[in-house]
Amino acid sequence: MAPARKPVIAGNWKMFKTASEGAALARELRPKVSMIHDVEIVVCPPFTTIPAVAQALAGSNVGVGGQNLHWEQHGAFTGEVSGPMLADAGCRWVVVGHSERRQLFGETDEGVHRKAKAALAAKLSPIVCVGETLAEREAGRTLEVVGRQIGGALGGLSDGEIAGLVVAYEPVWAIGTGKTATSAQAEEVHAAIRAQLAKSHGQKVSDGLRILYGGSVKPENVKELMAQPDVDGALVGGASLTADSFAAIVRYRG
Ligand code: 13P
Repeated sequence: MAPARKPVIAGNWKMFKTASEGAALARELRPKVSMIHDVEIVVCPPFTTIPAVAQALAGSNVGVGGQNLHWEQHGAFTGEVSGPMLADAGCRWVVVGHSERRQLFGETDEGVHRKAKAALAAKLSPIVCVGETLAEREAGRTLEVVGRQIGGALGGLSDGEIAGLVVAYEPVWAIGTGKTATSAQAEEVHAAIRAQLAKSHGQKVSDGLRILYGGSVKPENVKELMAQPDVDGALVGGASLTADSFAAIVRYRG
Protein backbone atom coordinates (compact mmCIF):
# COMPACT_ATOMS: atom_id res chain seq x y z
CA MET A 1 0.00 0.00 0.00
CA ALA A 2 1.47 3.36 -1.04
CA PRO A 3 2.01 5.87 1.78
CA ALA A 4 -0.53 8.66 2.19
CA ARG A 5 0.75 11.85 0.64
CA LYS A 6 -0.16 15.06 2.46
CA PRO A 7 -1.78 17.37 -0.10
CA VAL A 8 -0.19 20.70 -0.97
CA ILE A 9 -2.35 23.63 -2.08
CA ALA A 10 -0.18 26.51 -3.29
CA GLY A 11 -1.26 29.92 -4.56
CA ASN A 12 0.88 31.49 -7.27
CA TRP A 13 0.09 35.20 -7.13
CA LYS A 14 2.13 35.87 -10.29
CA MET A 15 2.71 39.63 -10.80
CA PHE A 16 -0.18 40.72 -8.59
CA LYS A 17 -0.31 42.37 -5.15
CA THR A 18 1.90 45.11 -3.78
CA ALA A 19 3.38 44.56 -0.31
CA SER A 20 0.46 46.25 1.43
CA GLU A 21 -2.15 44.48 -0.72
CA GLY A 22 -0.42 41.16 -0.16
CA ALA A 23 -0.22 41.62 3.61
CA ALA A 24 -3.93 42.46 3.66
CA LEU A 25 -4.76 39.33 1.66
CA ALA A 26 -2.59 37.21 3.96
CA ARG A 27 -4.26 38.63 7.07
CA GLU A 28 -7.67 37.89 5.58
CA LEU A 29 -6.69 34.36 4.53
CA ARG A 30 -5.04 33.33 7.78
CA PRO A 31 -8.14 32.80 9.97
CA LYS A 32 -10.08 31.22 7.08
CA VAL A 33 -7.65 28.29 6.88
CA SER A 34 -6.29 28.11 10.44
CA MET A 35 -8.29 24.96 11.21
CA ILE A 36 -6.87 22.98 8.26
CA HIS A 37 -4.00 20.74 9.33
CA ASP A 38 -4.20 17.93 6.80
CA VAL A 39 -3.14 20.13 3.86
CA GLU A 40 0.12 22.02 3.38
CA ILE A 41 -0.84 25.56 2.44
CA VAL A 42 1.51 27.87 0.56
CA VAL A 43 1.32 31.33 -1.01
CA CYS A 44 3.88 32.60 -3.52
CA PRO A 45 3.85 36.41 -3.77
CA PRO A 46 6.09 38.60 -5.94
CA PHE A 47 9.58 39.13 -4.50
CA THR A 48 8.99 42.58 -3.03
CA THR A 49 5.76 41.40 -1.37
CA ILE A 50 7.34 38.37 0.34
CA PRO A 51 8.59 40.01 3.57
CA ALA A 52 5.26 41.66 4.36
CA VAL A 53 3.36 38.44 3.67
CA ALA A 54 5.83 36.36 5.68
CA GLN A 55 5.33 38.73 8.59
CA ALA A 56 1.54 38.59 8.29
CA LEU A 57 1.65 34.77 8.28
CA ALA A 58 4.32 34.27 10.96
CA GLY A 59 3.38 31.41 13.28
CA SER A 60 0.50 30.32 11.04
CA ASN A 61 -0.07 27.13 9.05
CA VAL A 62 0.48 28.97 5.75
CA GLY A 63 3.96 28.79 4.25
CA VAL A 64 5.49 31.32 1.87
CA GLY A 65 7.28 30.68 -1.41
CA GLY A 66 9.03 32.58 -4.16
CA GLN A 67 8.03 32.34 -7.82
CA ASN A 68 11.56 31.96 -9.24
CA LEU A 69 15.20 32.00 -8.17
CA HIS A 70 18.67 32.10 -9.66
CA TRP A 71 20.84 29.00 -9.47
CA GLU A 72 23.82 30.80 -7.97
CA GLN A 73 23.85 31.95 -4.36
CA HIS A 74 25.12 35.43 -5.19
CA GLY A 75 27.08 37.20 -7.87
CA ALA A 76 26.93 39.71 -10.68
CA PHE A 77 23.48 38.71 -11.97
CA THR A 78 21.56 41.96 -12.28
CA GLY A 79 17.88 41.58 -11.54
CA GLU A 80 18.11 38.08 -10.06
CA VAL A 81 17.26 36.74 -6.59
CA SER A 82 18.87 33.67 -5.02
CA GLY A 83 17.66 30.78 -2.88
CA PRO A 84 19.40 31.98 0.30
CA MET A 85 17.82 35.41 -0.20
CA LEU A 86 14.35 33.86 -0.45
CA ALA A 87 14.96 31.69 2.61
CA ASP A 88 16.15 34.72 4.56
CA ALA A 89 13.02 36.63 3.54
CA GLY A 90 10.83 33.92 5.07
CA CYS A 91 10.30 31.43 2.24
CA ARG A 92 10.26 27.64 2.54
CA TRP A 93 9.12 27.02 -1.01
CA VAL A 94 9.83 28.26 -4.53
CA VAL A 95 8.14 27.73 -7.89
CA VAL A 96 10.64 26.58 -10.52
CA GLY A 97 10.17 26.37 -14.28
CA HIS A 98 6.66 27.78 -14.49
CA SER A 99 5.45 27.69 -18.09
CA GLU A 100 5.29 31.49 -18.16
CA ARG A 101 9.01 31.55 -17.38
CA ARG A 102 9.72 28.86 -19.95
CA GLN A 103 7.66 30.59 -22.65
CA LEU A 104 8.27 34.28 -21.95
CA PHE A 105 11.72 34.26 -20.35
CA GLY A 106 13.45 31.44 -22.19
CA GLU A 107 13.88 28.97 -19.33
CA THR A 108 15.15 25.56 -20.37
CA ASP A 109 15.00 22.08 -18.83
CA GLU A 110 18.69 22.48 -17.97
CA GLY A 111 18.05 25.79 -16.18
CA VAL A 112 15.08 24.31 -14.34
CA HIS A 113 17.32 21.48 -13.14
CA ARG A 114 19.94 23.91 -11.85
CA LYS A 115 17.30 26.00 -10.13
CA ALA A 116 15.73 22.97 -8.45
CA LYS A 117 19.16 21.97 -7.11
CA ALA A 118 19.84 25.52 -5.90
CA ALA A 119 16.49 25.64 -4.14
CA LEU A 120 17.16 22.36 -2.35
CA ALA A 121 20.63 23.58 -1.33
CA ALA A 122 18.95 26.64 0.23
CA LYS A 123 16.50 24.38 2.12
CA LEU A 124 13.60 25.50 -0.03
CA SER A 125 11.13 22.98 -1.46
CA PRO A 126 10.98 23.52 -5.21
CA ILE A 127 7.60 23.26 -6.92
CA VAL A 128 8.87 22.05 -10.29
CA CYS A 129 6.41 22.89 -13.08
CA VAL A 130 5.89 20.92 -16.27
CA GLY A 131 3.17 20.93 -18.91
CA GLU A 132 2.43 20.76 -22.62
CA THR A 133 1.11 23.44 -24.96
CA LEU A 134 -2.18 23.05 -26.82
CA ALA A 135 -0.31 22.30 -30.06
CA GLU A 136 1.68 19.58 -28.33
CA ARG A 137 -1.46 18.02 -26.86
CA GLU A 138 -3.27 18.13 -30.18
CA ALA A 139 -0.28 16.46 -31.81
CA GLY A 140 -0.53 13.63 -29.28
CA ARG A 141 2.81 14.56 -27.75
CA THR A 142 1.71 15.34 -24.16
CA LEU A 143 3.40 12.43 -22.41
CA GLU A 144 6.55 12.77 -24.50
CA VAL A 145 6.88 16.50 -23.71
CA VAL A 146 6.13 16.13 -20.00
CA GLY A 147 8.45 13.11 -19.82
CA ARG A 148 11.27 15.15 -21.32
CA GLN A 149 10.64 18.02 -18.90
CA ILE A 150 10.59 15.68 -15.90
CA GLY A 151 13.73 13.89 -17.05
CA GLY A 152 15.49 17.19 -17.66
CA ALA A 153 14.49 18.75 -14.37
CA LEU A 154 14.78 15.76 -12.03
CA GLY A 155 17.28 13.48 -13.77
CA GLY A 156 20.42 13.08 -11.69
CA LEU A 157 18.79 14.26 -8.46
CA SER A 158 19.30 11.97 -5.48
CA ASP A 159 16.42 10.14 -3.82
CA GLY A 160 16.69 12.56 -0.89
CA GLU A 161 16.49 15.54 -3.24
CA ILE A 162 13.37 14.15 -4.93
CA ALA A 163 11.82 13.69 -1.49
CA GLY A 164 12.35 17.41 -0.86
CA LEU A 165 10.45 18.68 -3.89
CA VAL A 166 7.01 18.60 -5.42
CA VAL A 167 6.02 18.53 -9.10
CA ALA A 168 3.22 20.62 -10.58
CA TYR A 169 1.62 19.50 -13.83
CA GLU A 170 0.18 22.58 -15.49
CA PRO A 171 -1.05 22.15 -19.06
CA VAL A 172 -0.27 25.49 -20.72
CA TRP A 173 -3.66 25.56 -22.45
CA ALA A 174 -5.42 25.40 -19.08
CA ILE A 175 -3.58 28.29 -17.44
CA GLY A 176 -5.69 31.41 -17.03
CA THR A 177 -8.12 30.22 -19.70
CA GLY A 178 -10.91 28.83 -17.56
CA LYS A 179 -10.36 25.55 -19.45
CA THR A 180 -9.43 23.01 -16.79
CA ALA A 181 -8.05 19.66 -17.77
CA THR A 182 -10.63 17.01 -17.02
CA SER A 183 -9.79 14.97 -13.96
CA ALA A 184 -9.09 12.02 -16.28
CA GLN A 185 -6.66 14.09 -18.38
CA ALA A 186 -4.87 15.24 -15.23
CA GLU A 187 -4.75 11.73 -13.78
CA GLU A 188 -3.30 10.27 -16.98
CA VAL A 189 -0.34 12.67 -16.91
CA HIS A 190 0.16 12.46 -13.15
CA ALA A 191 0.24 8.66 -13.32
CA ALA A 192 2.76 8.83 -16.17
CA ILE A 193 5.01 11.17 -14.14
CA ARG A 194 4.84 8.82 -11.17
CA ALA A 195 5.65 5.81 -13.36
CA GLN A 196 8.65 7.65 -14.81
CA LEU A 197 9.95 8.41 -11.29
CA ALA A 198 9.45 4.77 -10.31
CA LYS A 199 11.74 3.81 -13.20
CA SER A 200 14.39 6.43 -12.49
CA HIS A 201 14.34 6.47 -8.68
CA GLY A 202 12.42 3.39 -7.53
CA GLN A 203 8.94 2.70 -6.24
CA LYS A 204 9.40 4.18 -2.77
CA VAL A 205 10.55 7.59 -4.04
CA SER A 206 7.81 7.58 -6.65
CA ASP A 207 5.12 6.67 -4.11
CA GLY A 208 6.17 9.58 -1.91
CA LEU A 209 6.29 12.24 -4.63
CA ARG A 210 3.53 14.83 -4.47
CA ILE A 211 2.23 15.87 -7.87
CA LEU A 212 0.05 18.99 -7.97
CA TYR A 213 -2.30 19.96 -10.78
CA GLY A 214 -2.47 23.56 -11.98
CA GLY A 215 -4.58 25.33 -14.60
CA SER A 216 -7.88 27.05 -13.83
CA VAL A 217 -8.33 25.34 -10.47
CA LYS A 218 -11.41 26.81 -8.79
CA PRO A 219 -13.52 26.01 -5.71
CA GLU A 220 -15.99 24.33 -8.10
CA ASN A 221 -13.57 21.84 -9.67
CA VAL A 222 -10.95 21.18 -6.99
CA LYS A 223 -12.80 18.34 -5.29
CA GLU A 224 -13.07 16.22 -8.41
CA LEU A 225 -9.42 16.81 -9.31
CA MET A 226 -8.30 15.93 -5.78
CA ALA A 227 -10.30 12.71 -5.90
CA GLN A 228 -7.89 11.31 -8.51
CA PRO A 229 -5.39 8.86 -7.01
CA ASP A 230 -2.30 10.62 -8.36
CA VAL A 231 -3.42 14.23 -7.83
CA ASP A 232 -1.83 15.38 -4.57
CA GLY A 233 -2.62 19.05 -4.56
CA ALA A 234 -3.10 22.15 -6.65
CA LEU A 235 -1.11 25.12 -7.88
CA VAL A 236 -3.63 27.93 -8.12
CA GLY A 237 -3.25 31.19 -10.03
CA GLY A 238 -6.24 33.51 -10.40
CA ALA A 239 -8.36 31.90 -7.69
CA SER A 240 -5.57 32.42 -5.13
CA LEU A 241 -5.91 36.20 -5.37
CA THR A 242 -8.94 36.43 -3.11
CA ALA A 243 -9.03 34.97 0.39
CA ASP A 244 -12.49 33.44 0.01
CA SER A 245 -11.79 31.50 -3.17
CA PHE A 246 -8.34 30.31 -2.09
CA ALA A 247 -9.66 29.28 1.33
CA ALA A 248 -12.51 27.39 -0.36
CA ILE A 249 -9.94 25.49 -2.46
CA VAL A 250 -7.82 24.72 0.62
CA ARG A 251 -10.99 23.49 2.36
CA TYR A 252 -11.94 21.25 -0.58
CA ARG A 253 -12.79 18.38 1.72
CA GLY A 254 -15.72 20.50 2.90
P1 13P B 1 -4.72 29.84 -13.18
O1 13P B 1 -5.18 29.13 -11.93
O2 13P B 1 -4.99 31.31 -13.15
O3 13P B 1 -5.16 29.15 -14.41
O4 13P B 1 -3.11 29.74 -13.15
C1 13P B 1 -2.50 28.52 -12.99
C2 13P B 1 -1.06 28.73 -12.78
O5 13P B 1 -0.33 29.07 -13.69
C3 13P B 1 -0.52 28.52 -11.42
O6 13P B 1 0.87 28.52 -11.42
